[in-house]
Amino acid sequence: MATPLISPSILSADFARLGEEVRAIDAAGADWIHVDVMDGHFVPNLTIGPGVVKALRPHTSKPFDVHLMIEPVDHFLEAFAATGADIITFHPEAGPHAHRTVQAIKALGKQAGIALNPATPAKMLDYLIDDIDLVLVMSVNPGFGGQSFIHSQLRKIEAVRKMIDKSGRQIFLEVDGGVDLVTAPQCVAAGADVLVAGTATFKGGPDCYAANIAALKGAG
Ligand code: DX5
Ligand code: ZN
Repeated sequence: MATPLISPSILSADFARLGEEVRAIDAAGADWIHVDVMDGHFVPNLTIGPGVVKALRPHTSKPFDVHLMIEPVDHFLEAFAATGADIITFHPEAGPHAHRTVQAIKALGKQAGIALNPATPAKMLDYLIDDIDLVLVMSVNPGFGGQSFIHSQLRKIEAVRKMIDKSGRQIFLEVDGGVDLVTAPQCVAAGADVLVAGTATFKGGPDCYAANIAALKGAG
């Protein structure tokens, strides 16, 4: 089976030492850095804003995979693009004009991702697939790290894989939430090529990061 890219979610890092933590996961083999931005309104938790993302940028040259769980999203796009984010992913429920938001992200020179909540059907992508660079299948309800994987999302990963293959375009299929050594291979078998992992990357502290990331890659 193909080896997935691993995008550790820094939500599970030590927030008092975020720069060090980003350097540590970079050195440990992270492919991307997953940054969870929450507004306490679209999701029931509050995390970080563009200032923190910008402060982290000098700590790694790996792509910043910024997952915006904010509503509305449009008026923050410029600020997040200016942080040095590489991929900006948003939830279509967070605004009335998802297509316009995708175009706005691309106009800022960034890759655009669509996040699908567990109850959001793959069909949501029908008229976006020709424009997006990434689909993020949420395998937990967004808001917190450390939740259990929702198994019905494996069917959605399979459906999205078919849509991507049919499109003939280069689109990443990323899974976020409850990814561990048991669920990682299931996600890859269903067609995922990027795995977000918070708890599974950071468990055990810095001495374990390389082994944790390698195990997740191997699990593919
Ligand atoms: C949830 C976030 C996830 C989360 C993943 O809203 O989008 O990125 O931090 O954490 P784990 O891997 O612990 O489920
Ligand atoms: Zn996320």
